[in-house]
Amino acid sequence: MVKVVSIIGAGVIGGAIARCLARSNIVEKVVATRRKIEKLEILKTEGIELSEDNLHAAEIADVIFICVKPGDVEKVLKQITHKISGKLIISTAAIIPLNFYHSISPKSKFVRTMPNVAALVGESFTAYCCDENVTREDKEIVKKLLRTLGSCEEVEEKHMDAITGLSGSGPAYIAHMIEALMYAGLKVGLPRDLAMYSAAQAVLGTAKMILKGGFSPSAIKEMVTTPGGTTIEGIYQLEDGKIATALIKAVEAATSKCANIRYSWNNK
Ligand SMILES: NC(=O)c1ccc[n+]([C@@H]2O[C@H](COP(=O)([O-])OP(=O)(O)OC[C@H]3O[C@@H](n4cnc5c(N)ncnc54)[C@H](OP(=O)(O)O)[C@@H]3O)[C@@H](O)[C@H]2O)c1
Repeated sequence: MVKVVSIIGAGVIGGAIARCLARSNIVEKVVATRRKIEKLEILKTEGIELSEDNLHAAEIADVIFICVKPGDVEKVLKQITHKISGKLIISTAAIIPLNFYHSISPKSKFVRTMPNVAALVGESFTAYCCDENVTREDKEIVKKLLRTLGSCEEVEEKHMDAITGLSGSGPAYIAHMIEALMYAGLKVGLPRDLAMYSAAQAVLGTAKMILKGGFSPSAIKEMVTTPGGTTIEGIYQLEDGKIATALIKAVEAATSKCANIRYSWNNK
C-alpha cells in the first residue's frame, strides 16, 4: 500500500486520477492541488485532501503525479525540485521527454505516461515509460497505481507520440464517430436517445468483442456482412467516404503535432 499520493494540477486528467486512486484500496491518502482550489470542492466528498501548496503536497507524498499542461511542467517541477529527491514522479504531460525531467531533478525517479480521458470512468489505456532511476519495485507500484485508471502497459519512449495521437486523442475521435452515428440515426427516423444509445453501445460491444472475445475486426465484419445484405451497403458507403484514410490521417497528424509542439517548446 502507498501511503500518500499527491496530484499536482488536478484538472480533467489529474481530477480523474485523484478519484480513481481515492476509490482504490491501495492508497491511504490522496492530496490534490490546483490554483483555483474552489473548483476541487467536489473531490472532498471522496475523501481527497485539497491544497494550493504544491511544495507541501510534494513534501508529504511518497508518489507525485504531475498533471499540469506541458507548458506549466517546468515551472512546477522547479518549484518542487528540492522536495522530490529519490521520489517517484509520474507525469501525464504530452510531448515532454524523460530526459527533460531528469535534467531538472536528476535524483528523482520519473515515469512519463499517456492516459486518456476514459480514466473518468476507470477505462483509460495508459502507456508509460520509465527513466533509468526507476527500479523494478517502483515499476510494481506504478502498475498498481495506473491500473486504478484502467489498463496500462510499459512501452519504449519512442512510441509515446504515436500513443498520444492514437489513444490519448482516441476518445475524441470515437466521440466524433458516435455523434455522427447518432445523427445518422436521426436521419433514418430514430428518436434521439435511442439513436445515441444504439450508436454508443455498438462501439462498446464491438470493442469488447475484440478485447474480451478475441475476435479480430475482420472476423466481426465477416459475421455481420451477408452477401446482398444491408451491411455491405453501409460498408460500401464508408469505403466511398474513405473513412479508413481519414482515421489514419487523423492519427498521423496528431502524432506529428507532438513533434512540432516539442520543437517550439525546445526553442522557446
Ligand atoms: N485531457 C486529456 O484528454 C489528456 C489525455 C492525456 C494526457 N493529458 C495531459 O495531462 C495534462 C493535463 O491535461 P488536462 O486536460 O487535465 O488539463 P487541465 O484540465 O487544464 O488541468 C491542468 C490543471 O493544472 C492546474 N495548474 C496549472 N498550473 C498549476 C500550478 N502551478 N500548480 C498547481 N496546479 C496548476 C490547472 O488549474 P489552476 O489553473 O486552477 O491552477 C488545471 O486544472 C496535460 O499535460 C496533458 O498533456 C491530457
